Amino acid sequence: MQNPKNILITGAGSGIGRALAITYSGVGINLFLCGRNLEKLQETKSFCEARGAKVFVEILDVTDEQGAKNWIEKIDVLDLVIANAGISAGTAGGSESFAQIKKIFSTNLDGVLNVTHPAIEKMKLVKNKFPSGQIALISSLAGMRGLPSSPAYSGSKAAVRVYGEGLRGNLASFGVEVNVVCPGYIKTPMTDVNDFPMPFLMNAEKCAEIIKRDLAKNKSRISFPFLLYFVVWLATLLSTKITDPIFAKLPGKKSL
Ligand SMILES: NC(=O)c1ccc[n+]([C@@H]2O[C@H](COP(=O)([O-])OP(=O)(O)OC[C@H]3O[C@@H](n4cnc5c(N)ncnc54)[C@H](OP(=O)(O)O)[C@@H]3O)[C@@H](O)[C@H]2O)c1
Repeated sequence: MQNPKNILITGAGSGIGRALAITYSGVGINLFLCGRNLEKLQETKSFCEARGAKVFVEILDVTDEQGAKNWIEKIDVLDLVIANAGISAGTAGGSESFAQIKKIFSTNLDGVLNVTHPAIEKMKLVKNKFPSGQIALISSLAGMRGLPSSPAYSGSKAAVRVYGEGLRGNLASFGVEVNVVCPGYIKTPMTDVNDFPMPFLMNAEKCAEIIKRDLAKNKSRISFPFLLYFVVWLATLLSTKITDPIFAKLPGKKSL
């Protein structure tokens, strides 16, 4: 969608969510931002207000289905919803606890559904406007292939990616655009804890610019940086006999 005015972003208190909020800020823009930490959200709010946006913050845990529904329902108009909130953790060289697996899926998958479903219902009712709305789902290049170093994280992001790809075709006749975003390594608090090399690490501001640019073009899958995407894409084409031993050597992210 070109020039969305009413934009909702989950997980806007830091990292990519904050950078997106700032990037979209300007006079005439209404931002609806959520997260669990008021202090972080207030900081994002002040950056966005300095650029002329009107900002409404909501303390919301996206795993709270009713809370998410109540929040979306009280907003009059939504042009663009960016389901960004997420957590990541890995095996740290061992295996994942069941508690970690459930927490990752409930935040990264249920959290996306809890926010986007009521937003889609709202957008489907919009008449005389095309597109009637846009839904951007933040997946990851880690969701292109199951990773032994983070099975739950890569699985949750794969589910978001594939769901979004299906939803795009399904909602086209309602005039709702759906886009899947698959970033590589982005410098944020999520990756600041990693103690292994992160190829092609990009800053959050550049990441937000790319997402904004490609959402305006309604690009189906927004994957970057290109070289890392190309390597991951190639790996999905090769036999698992070749790729399994390589992926097994990837360093494990810390557990929760
Ligand atoms: N950084 C990367 O390299 C990278 C790469 C690919 C994809 N991604 C994805 O990009 C998204 C943003 O990540 P980031 O790198 O910007 O990390 P981040 O700085 O840790 O941001 C994640 C945000 O999500 C919020 N959040 C987490 N759980 C939440 C919950 N249950 N309810 C509401 N808000 C919640 C956090 O705020 P509160 O703690 O205040 O709730 C935080 O502000 C995630 O979905 C991540 O998986 C990141």
